[in-house]
Amino acid sequence: RRCERKDHPMTDQAPLNFAIITCSDTRDLRQDAAGDALERLIAEQGWVCRTHTLVRDERPNIAAAIKHCTDDLKVDIVLTCGGSGLSPRDVTPEATHDVCEREVPGIAEAMRWHSLQITPFAMLSRAVCMQRGSSLVINLPGSTKAATENWEGVVAALPHAAKMMAAGGHDD
Ligand code: MTE
Repeated sequence: RRCERKDHPMTDQAPLNFAIITCSDTRDLRQDAAGDALERLIAEQGWVCRTHTLVRDERPNIAAAIKHCTDDLKVDIVLTCGGSGLSPRDVTPEATHDVCEREVPGIAEAMRWHSLQITPFAMLSRAVCMQRGSSLVINLPGSTKAATENWEGVVAALPHAAKMMAAGGHDD
């Protein structure tokens, strides 16, 4: 599904481009409340969601969807949603490892640190954050509340992350 483009305030930096990949055996795109909430959170920042798709909890499918978003759509940030817990079908972190080169542990640490102040269940997240080329892939949990809380824990650092991936470093 293509997301609507939103007007964004004039800034010296281009708006960030996102993709949302919901990983679920049971949902469909018309009933993806967490993915829809992420679309709204992206738009609230004046950023752009280029695509919102849903794939089943199969490692090759998730890996292929990530590759499409990074290599073909060239989004700055891919948000996966769901499949990062302890149930046997949860394979999103493994699929992320399959197609990404470098781990960015601080982002996953920040999500868990932020979330642990809300619920002890946050320690059950196996989410990873990794780079593929000049894109960042962030695993978010699958419930609306949890996805929103994890987003809130890291959103402030995303523009600087994208800038560094694109330009390759600090100005000073
Ligand atoms: N983080 C926040 N902020 N709030 C939550 O309710 N739920 C946890 C965790 N992170 C939670 C959270 C739970 S119960 C699980 S199993 C993991 O996220 C992974 O969620 P997922 O399997 O939906 O990806």
